[in-house]
Amino acid sequence: MTAAASDSLAGKVAIVTGGGSGIGRGCALRLAADGAKVGVFDLDPGNAKAVADEIVAVGGAAHPVTVDVTSREQIDAGVAEIKALYGPATILVTSAGREGFRRFLDITADQWNALVSVNLTGTFHSCQAVVPDMIEAHWGRIVTISSSSAQGGQPFMTHYSASKGGVITFTKSLALELGEFGITVNTIPPGFIITPMTERNAEKGRLGPGGLDAVIARTPVRRGGQSEDIAAACAFLCRDEASYVTGQIIGVNGGRTTTSTVF
Ligand SMILES: NC(=O)c1ccc[n+]([C@@H]2O[C@H](COP(=O)([O-])OP(=O)(O)OC[C@H]3O[C@@H](n4cnc5c(N)ncnc54)[C@H](O)[C@@H]3O)[C@@H](O)[C@H]2O)c1
Repeated sequence: MTAAASDSLAGKVAIVTGGGSGIGRGCALRLAADGAKVGVFDLDPGNAKAVADEIVAVGGAAHPVTVDVTSREQIDAGVAEIKALYGPATILVTSAGREGFRRFLDITADQWNALVSVNLTGTFHSCQAVVPDMIEAHWGRIVTISSSSAQGGQPFMTHYSASKGGVITFTKSLALELGEFGITVNTIPPGFIITPMTERNAEKGRLGPGGLDAVIARTPVRRGGQSEDIAAACAFLCRDEASYVTGQIIGVNGGRTTTSTVF
C-alpha cells in the first residue's frame, strides 16, 4: 500500500470509479492511506474486492461495489450503499475508462458510442450522483481522470481522445457551476502511466516503434509514470488546502509535451 502521507482526509468518504485497477487502484490506496473511507467502484468485482481487501489489510476502510458506470441505476445504488455504510461521499475520483485504437474510417458508431458512454457519460453519471451530498455538506472534491491524448490529439484514437476532451471541458464547466458550494472540480490528464491498460496497448504494438522503451526515452524525466504519481496529485487536490484550485488541468506526464503528441 502507498505510504501514509498524512491523516489529511480523516473523516472523509471517497468513491473511486475504476478503483479495481491501475490509476483508480492507486488513487483508492492513497486516499485510504490519507485517512478516507473508500468505496471501490469497478465493473470487475474481483478486482474491486482485491483492492478493498488490500486497504483493509493495512488498517484502512474500504468497500467494493460492482458498478458499470454507464448505468445510472447501478451508480445510484452504489452511492447509496456507501452512504449507508460510511456516510455521504464528498470525494469522487472518476478513473473508470476504456481505451480505443482504430483508424478513423474503421470506427463504427457502436464503438464510438461505447467509448463515449463509459469515458464521458460515465463521468457525468458519477458526478451527478454524488454532487447533491456535496452541496449538502458545502464541501466536495471531484477529480476526473482525462488524458493527455485530449490535450494534443492522438492518431487512431479519435473516439477515445474526443471522449476525454469532453471530460476536460465538462470538468471546467462543472467547476464554474459548483464553486459557490465549496466544491472543487479538477482533472488530471495522465501521460503514459504504466498500468494494465498501457501494458495491453504495448502488447498490441500500439505505442509505435520501440514500444514502451522508446516512449520512456522520449519522456523528459526518463521513466514511465506510476499510478502513485497520479495518486499523489489526486490526494493534493482532495485536501482542504487545495480549496482555491478548481477548474484546472493538472498534467502528470513526466514533462511530455501536450501541445502535439504522436504516440
Ligand atoms: N495509463 C495511462 O497512461 C493513461 C493515460 C491517459 C488516460 N488514462 C485514463 O486513466 C483511467 C484509468 O486507466 P488505467 O490505465 O488505470 O486503466 P486500467 O484498465 O488499468 O483500469 C481501468 C479500470 O476501469 C474499469 N472500467 C472499465 N469500464 C468500466 C465501466 N463501464 N464501469 C466501471 N468500471 C469500468 C476497469 O474494469 C478497470 O478496473 C482511464 O480513464 C484511462 O482512460 C490512462
